[in-house]
Amino acid sequence: MSNAEYLLGANQSEFERLQFQHSVWKSNTDAFFGRLGVAKGWNCLDVGAGPGFVSFDLRDRVGESGSVTALEPSSLFLDWFSEQVKQKQWTNVHLINGTAEEAKLPSQQYDLIFARWVIAFVPEPDKFFKQLLSALKPNGIIAFQDYYYEGLSLFPHGGAFDRMADMVRAYYHTSGGDPYITGKIPAWFRQNNLQTIDYSPHLYAGGPESPITEWAHRFFSTHIQHMVDKQVMKQSEGDAMLADWLEHRKNPDALFFSPMVVDVAGRKL
Ligand SMILES: C[S@@+](CC[C@H](N)C(=O)[O-])C[C@H]1O[C@@H](n2cnc3c(N)ncnc32)[C@H](O)[C@@H]1O
Repeated sequence: MSNAEYLLGANQSEFERLQFQHSVWKSNTDAFFGRLGVAKGWNCLDVGAGPGFVSFDLRDRVGESGSVTALEPSSLFLDWFSEQVKQKQWTNVHLINGTAEEAKLPSQQYDLIFARWVIAFVPEPDKFFKQLLSALKPNGIIAFQDYYYEGLSLFPHGGAFDRMADMVRAYYHTSGGDPYITGKIPAWFRQNNLQTIDYSPHLYAGGPESPITEWAHRFFSTHIQHMVDKQVMKQSEGDAMLADWLEHRKNPDALFFSPMVVDVAGRKL
């Protein structure tokens, strides 16, 4: 997959959105790593690492004795991360410029293979999964945080935004992605001799000034227009949804509910 094909774009504005996104969802990812027992000495692969925000956190956990490899197709994101790695003088953080489907990964190398918000975008997720599996050590863990795209809503109901979850799901389909991808993963685990060790859905909610609402704003303020451009909806529908969103942001009693993000992890038997 070339950078141009990543649905949300590999550019400066997406970099900033990912940075803010990490500040909002980091505690959720940290809690997942805590449950999985990620510890000093582990060798980890962060797939679709973006600018490496999760890779930083993994490096903190695995310390000097472990290693972190960030696999990412966007040079823009990877160059930024490479600069940070140099500044920190880390010698056990490695970068691979490529996709999970095409990269040459070492066989049975990693204790943990992790991908947050990546597999829902890819058109051949089973190929993506199988490629990664061969790089996992026996007894190693492969883990995903991604959507089961339910739950997205605004309260009070009744406006144009009520149809937004359908629109976002259709937007994912335009690039061959699957907004319900985490529903498929336990079956893949069973078929490939992995044991499901974690399956936990999470969603956040908050008022108009909350970080979770600001997170959503950074998505909708850009991507409603992209959805229109990709003919997921008409311009008039997009305009009505954005107007409804902005009205709710002015209402101090309004609530935003995020879509559901599922933590799913399997151990290779
Ligand atoms: C929404 S961002 C998530 C970045 C990071 N995982 C995080 O949580 O901050 C998705 C990333 O996946 C990368 N990506 C897209 N398709 C990929 C593929 N087939 N293999 C590996 N990475 C991919 C994109 O370039 C982008 O950086």
